[in-house]
Amino acid sequence: MPQDDAMHTDFFAWLEQHKGREYDLHNDHINPAFIKMLRTIGFDKGYVRGEGCYLWDADGNKYLDMLTGWGVFALGRNHPKVKAILQQLMSHDMPNLVRMDASLLAGLAAEMLTKHTPENLSRVFFCNSGTETIETAIKFARCATGRQGVIYCDHAFHGLTTGSLSLNGSDFFRKRFGQLMPGSEMIPFNDLAALEKALSAKTAAAFIIEPVQGKTCEVVQDGYLEEAMRLCRKHGTLLVADEVQCGLGRTGKWFAFQHWLGVEPDIICTAKALSGGYVPVGAVITKPRIMDCVFDSMERCVVHSNTFGQNDMAMAAALASLYVIEEDKLVENAAKLGQYAMTRLKEISKDCPFVSDVRGKGLMFGIDFARPKEGVKLKMAWDMLHKLNFGVFGQIIVLPLLHKHKILTQVAGYHVEVIKFLPPMTITREDVDWFLSAMDDVLADTQRIPGAAWDTVSGIAKRMITA
Ligand SMILES: Cc1ncc(COP(=O)(O)O)c(C=O)c1O
Repeated sequence: MPQDDAMHTDFFAWLEQHKGREYDLHNDHINPAFIKMLRTIGFDKGYVRGEGCYLWDADGNKYLDMLTGWGVFALGRNHPKVKAILQQLMSHDMPNLVRMDASLLAGLAAEMLTKHTPENLSRVFFCNSGTETIETAIKFARCATGRQGVIYCDHAFHGLTTGSLSLNGSDFFRKRFGQLMPGSEMIPFNDLAALEKALSAKTAAAFIIEPVQGKTCEVVQDGYLEEAMRLCRKHGTLLVADEVQCGLGRTGKWFAFQHWLGVEPDIICTAKALSGGYVPVGAVITKPRIMDCVFDSMERCVVHSNTFGQNDMAMAAALASLYVIEEDKLVENAAKLGQYAMTRLKEISKDCPFVSDVRGKGLMFGIDFARPKEGVKLKMAWDMLHKLNFGVFGQIIVLPLLHKHKILTQVAGYHVEVIKFLPPMTITREDVDWFLSAMDDVLADTQRIPGAAWDTVSGIAKRMITA
């Protein structure tokens, strides 16, 4: 290890001395399996700069970021207005997290957030991550209803802590982590009959749903949420909208459930975009009636709380993000460019026999793949790859998107055939066109069998088996 300059005098000079050590450090101290995966698919790019919709590697190559840290960089990276607000905050000696006092910043952030929710949803609990919003929703719902159970959907993703993991619609994430929360019940997505059956047991405190699913980009059908809300009310279960990923403008409305008139969840969970890409933050928005069940006396006024939830940096990042989303008309941009991107992608995909669907809402959309219906060679290639590794097909698209077209994406989850696109809500039409012409090229390449794309991915699949 080189001799260190003092870290505090010039932090970037100090960092410079350690340049090139990132993968080894992660290999030694953080997660070697992750580093192996990055190296195997050539995603070890070592990005050195991020601005707006773009990332740059050390060689000066510019990449379009359609992954946005799984939705965190909804405003793009290092948005100047968010940065300016946080820099101003840093230059003041704020009291911060006094605990036995009320922070103005938290109050203002709650006020600004609830401007965009139905009138009844006026109370906010701040926390540190998406999963913590779900843990909070579970506790609030249990406390308010006196019931235990939670209903969730197939393919759902609500986070990976023990409570939210109990609501994960994929065995992959749950396997080997032992028994999870009792009373959780999975139902198929978009199936009202199954929901009614589960609700009729009258044991569920909450039904938790992503209006646009993060792992599949499936959208609730028209009329589904309205009826789900009616059924939940009838059976005494709270409706929880998980808007951790799809909320705050991404789908072309402030909250995705607002695409359907009259829908009013009892609890809304949101996070990711609220951070401005700078400071982790989550918010649970609910009704006074529900919040008052939890904090029903002075004695119980901190019965659910956390250490960092209302910290000044997070609250300022939330305020700044809400301000920018409104001021820069990002909800409108997400609606307009999302519609354009999806319409064009559907047209482009028509000629690719592997594409089974293009779906989503606003700037949260995905492309789904399936075994081709025709063509012996195509079917054989698909089967061979799937025998090696189910779910690796997406890399035939993802790898050339990165290596040839300089566009960062990834599949939406493990063992699914969906590639999800989550560009910054600040994206321009020009950049959407960059993405679309790249997709045109890589989708055409899937039909070249044998060809470079298939060879590369088969090689990776084999290496993953032997690793
Ligand atoms: C819909 C949804 N809910 C909850 C979470 C969990 O959020 P976090 O990773 O911040 O815990 C995620 C994360 O991707 C998500 O997409």
